[in-house]
Amino acid sequence: MRIVRDIGELELEGTVGLVPTMGALHDGHRALFRAARGENDVVVTSLFVNGAQFDDADDLAAYPRDEAQDAQIAAQEGVDVLFAPASSVVYPSGFGTWVEVDDTGAEGAARPGHFRAVATVCLKLFNIVRPQRAYFGQKDGQQVAVVERLVRDLDLDVEIRVVPTVRDSDGLALSSRNVHLSPDERTRALALPRALAAGAEAFAAGHDALAEARRAFNGSTPDYVEIVETERATLLAAALRIGSTRLIDNVLLKGELS
Ligand code: PAJ
Repeated sequence: MRIVRDIGELELEGTVGLVPTMGALHDGHRALFRAARGENDVVVTSLFVNGAQFDDADDLAAYPRDEAQDAQIAAQEGVDVLFAPASSVVYPSGFGTWVEVDDTGAEGAARPGHFRAVATVCLKLFNIVRPQRAYFGQKDGQQVAVVERLVRDLDLDVEIRVVPTVRDSDGLALSSRNVHLSPDERTRALALPRALAAGAEAFAAGHDALAEARRAFNGSTPDYVEIVETERATLLAAALRIGSTRLIDNVLLKGELS
């Protein structure tokens, strides 16, 4: 696996699959690498902690970083190129063009500026790497909706592939932020996948998914519970704050991911 830091060093031949990440790689990212490995001649992953998309300075400062371990994981999954640019490569001095995105749901409302920065960095990565396909996790459902609409609205020539959420055996979705949870917080965090599962079950039985999920939080108060529409799927999504850690998750109600 080649580690590349500059845009000029990215010369790729054949079909290219791109997996954008911020590092702190876990089994969720591995699922994206495997999907990309199965469908492309060349697999590129980007490792860039996009400061612009963090609305909270403490969250950015606490974001776990371990490039050597990330490189090992990516290499194990058959990634060909790890693109790990410095911030000055992605945002050189004088940078001042951003993608504005409308209607980013409750997650967007909770994180002003977040999806504008996600859309901007994804557009830049698509232009830098020029992949035929780019891989995103269902886990970040509103992000999928934003990126799919970015591609549609700006006529980008890239296929967005969505990979199902990878969970721990107790149901908690894997997230780089789970390392911040104490054992007690980790137990309390299970309210999130459980409430969403209850909502999906109610929906399958012909009942109101939102009402049932809200009820099933019993006692813990989510930031929101809402429906997110992606290009081909309807998701039931929620966010829950546990101590200083904010977790998001969603389940598929209707349709398919990609
Ligand atoms: P990051 O949080 O590192 O996630 C990279 C990709 O991995 C995203 O598409 C995310 O949805 C996916 N992912 C994370 N946890 C997952 C899980 N448990 N199961 C399946 N997929 C999972 O999302 C970002 O980075 C950034 O916003 C980025 C797109 C790189 C732009 O900066």
